[in-house]
Amino acid sequence: MARTLPKQNAVVETSAAQIAVHWREEEYYYPSAKFVGQSNLSDPDINERFSEKNFPECFREYADLLSWDKYWDTTLDTSDPPFWKWFVGGKINASYNCVDRHLDKYKNKAAIIFVPEPESEAPVSLTYRELYVRVNEFAALLRDFCGLKSGDRVTIHMPMIPELPVTMLACARLGVIHSVVFGGFSGEACGLRAADSGSKVLITMDGYYRNGKLLDHKAAADIAIETAKQAGTVVEKALFWRRHADQNASTSPFVEGRDFWVDEILPRYSGEIVPPVPMDAEAPLFLMYTSGSTGKPKGCQHRTGGYLAYVTGCSKYIQDIHPEDVYWCMADIGWITGHSFIVYGPLALAATSVIYEGVPTYPDAGRVWRIAERLDVNIFHTSPTAIRMLRKSGHDEPTKYNYHFKHMTTVGEPIEPEVWRWYYETVGKGEAVIVDTWWQTENGGFLCTTKPALDPMKPGSAGPGMPGIYPTILDEMGEEVHAGSGKAGNICIRNPWPGIMQTIWGDRDRFVTQYYAKYCKDTNSKNWQDWPYFAADGAVQAVDGYFRILGRVDDVINVAGHRLGTKEIESACLTVPEVAEAAVVPVVDEIKGRVPEVYIVLQPDILPPQHQEILAKVNHVIETMIGKIARPRRILIVPDMPKTRSGKLMRRILAALSNNMNTGDITTLANPDVVESVRVMVQGKEVVALTDGPEDLKAFGSVD
Ligand code: PRX
Repeated sequence: MARTLPKQNAVVETSAAQIAVHWREEEYYYPSAKFVGQSNLSDPDINERFSEKNFPECFREYADLLSWDKYWDTTLDTSDPPFWKWFVGGKINASYNCVDRHLDKYKNKAAIIFVPEPESEAPVSLTYRELYVRVNEFAALLRDFCGLKSGDRVTIHMPMIPELPVTMLACARLGVIHSVVFGGFSGEACGLRAADSGSKVLITMDGYYRNGKLLDHKAAADIAIETAKQAGTVVEKALFWRRHADQNASTSPFVEGRDFWVDEILPRYSGEIVPPVPMDAEAPLFLMYTSGSTGKPKGCQHRTGGYLAYVTGCSKYIQDIHPEDVYWCMADIGWITGHSFIVYGPLALAATSVIYEGVPTYPDAGRVWRIAERLDVNIFHTSPTAIRMLRKSGHDEPTKYNYHFKHMTTVGEPIEPEVWRWYYETVGKGEAVIVDTWWQTENGGFLCTTKPALDPMKPGSAGPGMPGIYPTILDEMGEEVHAGSGKAGNICIRNPWPGIMQTIWGDRDRFVTQYYAKYCKDTNSKNWQDWPYFAADGAVQAVDGYFRILGRVDDVINVAGHRLGTKEIESACLTVPEVAEAAVVPVVDEIKGRVPEVYIVLQPDILPPQHQEILAKVNHVIETMIGKIARPRRILIVPDMPKTRSGKLMRRILAALSNNMNTGDITTLANPDVVESVRVMVQGKEVVALTDGPEDLKAFGSVD
């Protein structure tokens, strides 16, 4: 029977595809002969091997980097689009691939080097052997003390310490699905995710260092468990790792029978070996919650075999990781970058992966470069926000330290060409290649990137599709926007790939609606060609085929490379009883790229003397329901919101006001007068010089 799919955006206010983009074409930069000579990928045949005529079998090449318990029968099963199945019939264990299989050759090599934030605490190395022992012991605890088995879900709310990958790998060893929630998210945000995934066990920590302070993290666990309970899920056990032996960083009391110190239970499992469970290639490995265009974060469900194969391929060929390398990704493991490119990809390749606990500029702007020098890091991976921050706080700092990167990655946001050049010349000392990798939580690994020894770099451009990824830009009608046309559109991926998520946890329909409904013309089709993946990013393709990513075309704000849904923040605001309406828009920020700005309309009976208190309340709910990361630049109380005649709230117009951009035609609004009164509130009485603004803000909110 034909499946009918709701179209996502029947009415489009501003089409991203209509934006003409006038980029200056940047010059190419080329990798050094030294880099090319040692690269994992210097054979240009890769383009042919991964061309469409070899799809999907080309992906065997990534899967063959792994050790399989049972080789698969079918590389790609397309019988139930768009729920693609990869390496069907194969059996594999991710923990075995990241730990056990390296023991013969690398047992004494550092798998993880942990750098605590306080410089008085020396870095700690964990060899592959030590990692093996710790993963096994913790897996025994999860199995025997918590009663966990394959298919169960566990929520992990931990900071950047080595016990986090130990916990993830122990789960993977048993086939337990881990759901790591970013440590900086509030207890409430953690609790809602725990409830959605049905986690009966929460694994967390007493405290951690951030900006010189030892934070109490246990308090968040208490809130998380209470929130999960209210949402219908009882967390039966909470396990607490301890930041300092024999100390308690938290003042929150332990709940008898529910809360347990890991270091008090773990000795029972000393020396235990837990056989890795051979998992179906299609068994879920983890959930990673991310923001979308509705208020509820969605649990991206990633499969074991395809995901691990894909990230291992990305780490080997694009990040150029060799076992001899010391690799440092500064992301947080609580985001997809950390899962794929601190834990699974590098460890599958027997690399040494550095984990830094704290703030990059703590205690000063030289900290990152001191760590790089001390550990002799040669591959460095970070985001444009961190690069902008390091550039601003210590422009010449990198030149004072004796480290040498061969390779650097930027990810998470568009990078301005001048920031790229600083990264290249000052951080990379003109020696390191840069890959600008464009991808998303949903994708597992890179979608667009240059191949570092084969493709020249171009500042601000992500590059062509990753080997095996066929991107295209479509306009609102589904027509292709051609390379070199100077027009932007919606970047889509024409084909399935092994790293794509399986589904949204517990919500198959939303998976289809969110990513495929927009461009699938025939929902009965079994041909993958009929199911382009809609990424919700605007992009433009230059004549050389390189893609430049402009940013989100839906109601997602990318704050410092982290995704926040405007609807999530708006829902939080609406929990304050005095708030009648809320709208959240992105504002350009010199360091973080974008930050949220909040507009609220109050209930009619509220008087001005109450305003201050309400503003404080709104700020507070945003921090407690989501986290400090969502803290708005300003909260503005306005008399009314600009709306279309059909009642649609025009966030795009508010975004234009917040960013001193032209609002475009407002005469068709139901209440055009309100725009001028809001403008005066936002910009003051003086008329400010208006600009066209960044491309993503022109398209902001165009897809609901
Ligand atoms: O808008 C794109 C932006 O980050 C979004 C995905 O965010 P998230 O799922 O949190 O994953 C971030 C890390 C993979 C995308 O929709 N984005 C990601 N990488 C880039 C980027 N924008 C421009 N250039 C990039 N390299």
